[in-house]
Amino acid sequence: MSRWLNFDNHNVLVVGGTSGINLGIAEAFAEQGANVAVASRSQEKVDAAIARIAVFGNRTAGFAADVRDVAALETGLATVAEAFGTIDTLVVGQAGNFPAAAMQLSPNGFKSVVDIDLLGSFNTVRLAHRHLTPGSANIIAISAPQAFIPMAYQVHVCAAKAGVEMLTRVLALELGPENIRVNAIVPGPIDGTEGMVRLAPTPEARERARQSVPMKRYGTPREVADCAMFLASPLAAYISGAIIPVDGGWSVAGAGAGGGLDLQAS
Ligand code: NAP
Ligand code: COA
Repeated sequence: MSRWLNFDNHNVLVVGGTSGINLGIAEAFAEQGANVAVASRSQEKVDAAIARIAVFGNRTAGFAADVRDVAALETGLATVAEAFGTIDTLVVGQAGNFPAAAMQLSPNGFKSVVDIDLLGSFNTVRLAHRHLTPGSANIIAISAPQAFIPMAYQVHVCAAKAGVEMLTRVLALELGPENIRVNAIVPGPIDGTEGMVRLAPTPEARERARQSVPMKRYGTPREVADCAMFLASPLAAYISGAIIPVDGGWSVAGAGAGGGLDLQAS
């Protein structure tokens, strides 16, 4: 374990923190000394994630709630406040994704992704606001390249994540006077994650995705987590409203429509 930042007594909640990139973020903060809570729909996944972050020896907490269920979310957030006092860093990372042709996608299919990614992020921030550490908290949303790269078979995700980025920017405006910073991270293709399994399910698709990255490799959850820790640290004290790609240059590669993934409908 290498400690490069001091997050002792720093309280973090990662919503959607029970797998993939967000679990990587939760583990990295815990490794650097933070008390870390995680939340997602499955109690089983919450328990397993807590077991993984507990090995670093700091306080842990967690709750099962669907971000579309305001009452469950409110109750769960209160349990984190009870365990930790206040929340210094709130990571809003939950998401849903599947490839589907726009004209074949049902209204409920579109709605479920927008509700999880966008409305769920709004619900989380609105309800967590009262538990944030007054005068020094920060919020990190997890976006995706779909927010600004139009991708076929991703109309629901593109709309949802574009909304997440505008939510980030408006919240930075409104919460700035409270000294609450609000930023977003845009991961590129990250190795071994559910998102990439869904978007690049075959070896050929995986290779196409790799080739579309200027650095010619996948990113790791830890590389996304390092950016999150930077944003949560005093090193980023004057950074708010920023949308930061962690993507090996994907966003500037002129990947264009489709982002080089050449998706097929599922
Ligand atoms: P993942 O492992 O599927 O993580 C999604 C998390 O969200 C899980 O903890 C899931 O747990 C939770 N979740 C899903 N629906 C929820 C709901 N309605 N309420 C509460 N929690 C919910 O995905 P990932 O691939 O690591 O992606 C993580 C984040 O990175 C997402 O925001 C994604 O858009 C973004 N991203 C990923 C990539 C990539 O390469 N994977 C690239 C760009 C951006 P439960 O099932 O228990 O609810
Ligand atoms: N293609 C087309 N439509 C689909 C679909 C697919 N592959 N998967 C789900 N849908 C539709 C369903 O048919 C349903 O619409 P309907 O009622 O008109 O039939 C709607 O989406 C909601 O499905 P449901 O299974 O009830 O959704 P949910 O809200 O329980 O789950 C999902 C949300 C669909 C996003 C699910 O894939 C999920 O839980 N994902 C979380 C993990 C994830 O996506 N990780 C990657 C993050 S980048």
